[in-house]
Amino acid sequence: LKYQILPYSNRLTDGLRAMMESALTARDRVGVQDFVLLENYTSEAAFIENLRKRFKENLIYTYIGSVLVSVNPYKDLEIYNKNHMERYRGVNFYEVSPHIYAVGDNSYRSMRTERKDQCILISGESGAGKTEASKKILQYYAVTCPASEQVQTVKDRLLQSNPVLEAFGNAKTLRNDNSSRFGKYMDIQFDFKGAPVGGHIINYLLEKSRVVHQNHGERNFHIFYQLIEGGEEDLLRRLGLERNPQQYQYLVKGNCPKVSSINDRSDWKTVRKALTVIGFNEDDVEELLNIIASVLHLGNVQYGEEDGSACITSDTQIKYLARLLGVNGTVLTEALTHKKIIAKGEELMSPLNLEQASSARDALSKAVYGRTFTWLVNKINTSLTYTDDSSKHYSVIGLLDIYGFEVFQHNSFEQFCINYCNEKLQQLFIELTLKSEQEEYEAEGITWEPVQYFNNKIICDLVEEKFKGIISILDEECLRPGDASDLTFLEKLADTVGGHPHFVTHKLADAKTRKVMGREEFRLLHYAGEVNYNVNGVCVCVCVCVFNLIVMCMSENKILNQCFDREELSDKKRPETAAAQFKASLAKLMEILMSKEPSYVRCMKPNDSKQAGRFDEVLIRHQVKYLGLMENLRVRRAGFAYRRRYEVFLQRYKSLCPDTWPNWQGKLSDGVATLVKHLGYKPEEYKLGRSKIFIRFPKTLFGTEEALETRKHSLATKLQAGWRGYSQKSKYQKLRTSAVQAWWRGILARRRARRRRQAADTIRRFIKGFIHRHEDRCPENEYFLDYVRYSFLMKLHRNLPKNVLDKSWPTPPAALTEASEHLRQLCMQNMVWSYCKKISPEWKHQMEQKMIASELFKDKKDNYPQSVPKLFVSTRLNGEDINPKVVQALGSEKMKYAVPVTKYDRKGYKARPRQLLLTSSGAVIVEEAKLKQRIDYGALKGISVSSLSDGLFVLHVLSEDNKQKGDVVLQSDHVIETLTKIAICSDKINNININQGSITYTVGQGKECVIDFTPGSELLVAKAKNGHLSVVSVNS
Ligand SMILES: Nc1ncnc2c1ncn2[C@@H]1O[C@H](COP(=O)(O)OP(=O)(O)OP(=O)(O)O)[C@@H](O)[C@H]1O
Ligand SMILES: [Mg+2]
Repeated sequence: LKYQILPYSNRLTDGLRAMMESALTARDRVGVQDFVLLENYTSEAAFIENLRKRFKENLIYTYIGSVLVSVNPYKDLEIYNKNHMERYRGVNFYEVSPHIYAVGDNSYRSMRTERKDQCILISGESGAGKTEASKKILQYYAVTCPASEQVQTVKDRLLQSNPVLEAFGNAKTLRNDNSSRFGKYMDIQFDFKGAPVGGHIINYLLEKSRVVHQNHGERNFHIFYQLIEGGEEDLLRRLGLERNPQQYQYLVKGNCPKVSSINDRSDWKTVRKALTVIGFNEDDVEELLNIIASVLHLGNVQYGEEDGSACITSDTQIKYLARLLGVNGTVLTEALTHKKIIAKGEELMSPLNLEQASSARDALSKAVYGRTFTWLVNKINTSLTYTDDSSKHYSVIGLLDIYGFEVFQHNSFEQFCINYCNEKLQQLFIELTLKSEQEEYEAEGITWEPVQYFNNKIICDLVEEKFKGIISILDEECLRPGDASDLTFLEKLADTVGGHPHFVTHKLADAKTRKVMGREEFRLLHYAGEVNYNVNGVCVCVCVCVFNLIVMCMSENKILNQCFDREELSDKKRPETAAAQFKASLAKLMEILMSKEPSYVRCMKPNDSKQAGRFDEVLIRHQVKYLGLMENLRVRRAGFAYRRRYEVFLQRYKSLCPDTWPNWQGKLSDGVATLVKHLGYKPEEYKLGRSKIFIRFPKTLFGTEEALETRKHSLATKLQAGWRGYSQKSKYQKLRTSAVQAWWRGILARRRARRRRQAADTIRRFIKGFIHRHEDRCPENEYFLDYVRYSFLMKLHRNLPKNVLDKSWPTPPAALTEASEHLRQLCMQNMVWSYCKKISPEWKHQMEQKMIASELFKDKKDNYPQSVPKLFVSTRLNGEDINPKVVQALGSEKMKYAVPVTKYDRKGYKARPRQLLLTSSGAVIVEEAKLKQRIDYGALKGISVSSLSDGLFVLHVLSEDNKQKGDVVLQSDHVIETLTKIAICSDKINNININQGSITYTVGQGKECVIDFTPGSELLVAKAKNGHLSVVSVNS
């Protein structure tokens, strides 16, 4: 069979083609699914036209390589159900139409197969669909990942954290009815089985100004309206609230209490349920709602004026506030109308004027709400914590849903932070996409030419550089002593960064720009456009009035108690400004993102009126520009438009070449080379890398794709021709459909068979390896041997001995005997080394004595084992036990050890209580105040003791020493300790005799005496008939 590649015009008619393909496939082929396949890739118009064409067909997703571009449809599409999720599960990125699930699945698979943490960065302007996209990904994981019962709880909590955070952190704005007013980075943690087992959320800069003020047509955070609309009657009564948002000053500013797309009452129910799932108990919820109600009451605190100072005119709110917050009403009233100044160590109260008082009140409301929000995130994090301690190893997929670039008529400090954040993300995007592209060419051994793009690092530096960046200047200005104001800050800015190409102030601007700039504004030329920022109020709010902080620290509300810490008041450190804090948290975020493999979702909104089906080209063009999509595409196209792993390429197109159809048996790269040669690819059109084929021009790929379709058609046509002969038309149509299905089933069956084959191969390799396991390393057994080695080392890793006494060690396989022995010794040395390092000098001394005792008595004397666990003491007699005269008689001689002993007379063996003292030069036997006998160590010939468990011992003394009365028979209750001490002090370790049956010793004038030892049931020391001393020693 020879397959011919037909040009497009020669193909079967479009009508037939439409019949042959399923409706879905036909629709999916509108425009190009991947912008890199756009022939005219430098044309912005062609780019937008492709977006528009697809958008009209409800195809909202398109790729640029691996980046997903998403256009908000503003209507529910039937593409997020379970069947769709299944379609994308475990399937290659390029084999199905673009979808947010494909991005989720791709990250998940990379995490599982490459064991590398992933992150998905979702960006776009307000209302572009970032939050929706992140929720879709979370849902995808919740449905498709494996789950046990415990995992189900985690999944529920992960999903339910969204409605709670949205209630407290989202609000209706002009741009979006559910706009996130905080940035969110969420880690989803997966265990080794790929099941989601925990999570962690980091929040960024909540737009707190919204608590006290909303622009026209906007609302405060959802939770206020939900509570008022949905809260049960008696709850509202307890909180002192009325069911009418118009009653609250903090809710009327935007004049927009109701929004048609929002149902506050049912949202309230969802949030209450979600709080329970996350693990809030009734008390937590009560305290949380007390705070929310308090903020509303604070907003209604009314001020009047008396002698130029502010005073509170109605105390209803104060009463509620005192009760809800658990603070003293009088103190609160004072705090809301005065400020505390500390001068020369003294606290002074100074009254506030009307304006100051209401701004202090607003600052308090913002602080209370903002900190409660952070508390809420922490609480959710506790409930999402992965608790299984047995394995701390988990992989992570991070989801970043952060506020998009924003430009308003008036832009405050908060917009400045938001847009700075977007500069940083753009910077990261540039760096990572370029870097990864470059790395891929390098890894595949293909040369790369750099491409020109606008690097916005210059703007990031302008904002964040140390000492001379805008944030540093703001910091300096806010914290310096003296009269810093917004205007001095503006002047300082003009002085320091005035010459920067991306910075302008009113003063520095040309006449034309001056017209559209206020005197209190500066302008930044962001990568995404120009924005004027108003500096009004930037310098004042370093910290909430100290007085208010003190009051909050006194609150009995448990949440506020955790949010306001007394220590921050006493903290002498220079306080950090909000800008500096934000800069630090962004730097940390960049670090987190850099350590992970990124995927990108770039969201766009098709119009400003939240309407389905409207595609506003001007708006889209603007977003394409500032999202840097054209540059992204150019970078992607600078090298090769298309790359695919050999096996995937071959699998898809193998039917186009007789040599590769139905299966290619040789090396994959040879198969691809054969295939492209047959397809007539010219050398400049493609390159073969190490594991992938790179195709330079889209049209080459298109040609191949069309050939594939033609091939499909020709197969189908053949079938049709066969059937037509014996079928009626309706039957024929059924058959035709089933032919296509069969074709698909064939593909699926082949895919399944391939997987089964791979599994069988692995098992076969294993068995073969087992059979050849005793042979030298060879291709047959290397897989098995490596596996055995790996599993032994892993087993060892889990079962290493815990301490020096633990002698356990897993049995190694034959091949690892020697290595295992080395490892065992290393491990033991290491444990011994760290044990020795840890012991104290006292313990070392104890051990040395115990070592000597062991050498002397181990396996030689019966009562030695009992002595082992008992610690040796430094002395058995203290100062007060020894007669002072004895101490005096010993003079300067240092006492080393003293013990009560029994002495047996030389004649008659009468037992007499004595004390044995060891000094530096000799042993002294003492009877109360008298020194009875002194044996210098030089005169001590040896020591005898029995092998039984009695405590008798004999000190042998040199007979030529006339002063001595002969050997001494003594008995000690701590015989092992006593003898060890004597042996050490007298340096007679080698002179200890342990005797089996009897001991012979000498008394005055060379007369010999004998002690006989016999084992028995009761200790008995007495003179025997033969004149010997008989000792019955109790069996130990
Ligand atoms: N895939 C989608 N399908 C249907 N509607 C969508 C989709 N994405 C977004 N929307 C609609 O657009 C609205 C705004 O989306 P979303 O809240 O995700 O925007 P955002 O990018 O997070 O904005 P912000 O920066 O203000 O938080 C949603 O409330 C929803 O009505
Ligand atoms: Mg959002």
